[in-house]
Amino acid sequence: MRLDFPPKHTETIGAVKIHSLQKIYEIDSGYNVNSKMQQNNNSTTAFDNRKLSKKCANMAIVIPVKNEKLSLLEGVLSGIPNECLIIIVSNSQRTPVDRYAMEVEMVKQFSQFSNKKISIIHQRDPNLSRIFHKINYTSILDQHSQVRRGKAEGMVIGILLAKIQGKKYVGFIDSDNYFPGAVNEYVKIFASGFAMAESCLSNVRVCWRSKPKIANNKVYFPRWGRVSEHSNKYLNDLISYITGYETDIITTGNAGEHALSMSLAENMEFASGYSVEPYELVNILENFGGIIKGSKSAHKDNVEIFQIETRNPHFHEDKGDDHVTSMLQESLSAINNSKICNTDITRDIKNHLLVLQQKTNQINSRINGSANNHIMDPIKIIPIDKFNELVIDSPKLLHLFNTSES
Ligand code: GDD
Repeated sequence: MRLDFPPKHTETIGAVKIHSLQKIYEIDSGYNVNSKMQQNNNSTTAFDNRKLSKKCANMAIVIPVKNEKLSLLEGVLSGIPNECLIIIVSNSQRTPVDRYAMEVEMVKQFSQFSNKKISIIHQRDPNLSRIFHKINYTSILDQHSQVRRGKAEGMVIGILLAKIQGKKYVGFIDSDNYFPGAVNEYVKIFASGFAMAESCLSNVRVCWRSKPKIANNKVYFPRWGRVSEHSNKYLNDLISYITGYETDIITTGNAGEHALSMSLAENMEFASGYSVEPYELVNILENFGGIIKGSKSAHKDNVEIFQIETRNPHFHEDKGDDHVTSMLQESLSAINNSKICNTDITRDIKNHLLVLQQKTNQINSRINGSANNHIMDPIKIIPIDKFNELVIDSPKLLHLFNTSES
């Protein structure tokens, strides 16, 4: 993969370095780029397939799933490079039709043909809730002591499963993507980002070049999604306020496709549901930006945030307007509730939330979604060996295909 390097601009806030958007020139820049001249010029760098494969071997790709079409999920699996460990965390229905059992069956069959390493778990399995209860990681549990519903909750489970399997990096890819080729590009972007990173604390965020829509029998290629347009704006307002210089550096506020180094992931708090991606940025600033008086990160390293623009368009299931409104509400609340959000920005977001409130009053009863962001504790507080032991002792909890333990 050949891309802009070094990034054109970097905003530095305390120990956080946010790099401006980097463009890809070649999705595949060859197998083994020997000559230094070929590899790097003044403004781009290329990572050959050998280098990317090595990064992939240290990477788990977590796929959160909830009641998606099996063929969509299968397409996503087919796009992930073979070296990666795949971790599917499902919250699909068990009754009246057991969609999770159907997913397990499909994955079992698919893994035989593809020889991919895949694990799959159900987020609401009572055995998993019991394990979290036992190890006292209660911030992932609801009032009934069951694992909470939500995409972010699935992601946290995925990070833990990646950690017990010794992975250095963890990437997230939604299961409702229509283009396996785009999925393949996302993973190469993650691997290139980690190859560029100088710090062990890094976050690689994907910016889609476009999100195609069909209207009046024509295909359109809008640049921004309906949620990211707004969360990017408020995140940029926040950074402009902190630095005193207006900026538009954030282009990936709601990057569903993103990756974290394990050293960073285990130190972060995660917001529930769909507020997870903007809150990751906010939480990195809270913990490492040196903005909150008295806040002291345990880590001595910088956090590097890379934002990389795809060549492929992002084409996924359209879940409707209500879903988008609720997602926007959750995202803006995550920014608004932060201790580093100043009063002017708070006022703007609150006004925006009031408008959304009128809509969500009508729709909250129809869909899963709430503006009250729940925050989950960093997973570093979990005794990981004990967690591993308890998972192994629950034989029906985690299905493993083609992994060394299977
Ligand atoms: N495990 C699990 N648990 N997965 C879930 C849950 C859940 O409760 N709810 C949804 N998912 C899965 C979906 O099946 C899908 O694979 C992924 O999480 C994203 O959910 P969608 O409902 O499809 O979200 P979206 O496509 O509207 O939004 C995506 O893009 C946004 C940016 O435009 C998400 O990635 C958002 O987080 C992102 O902000």
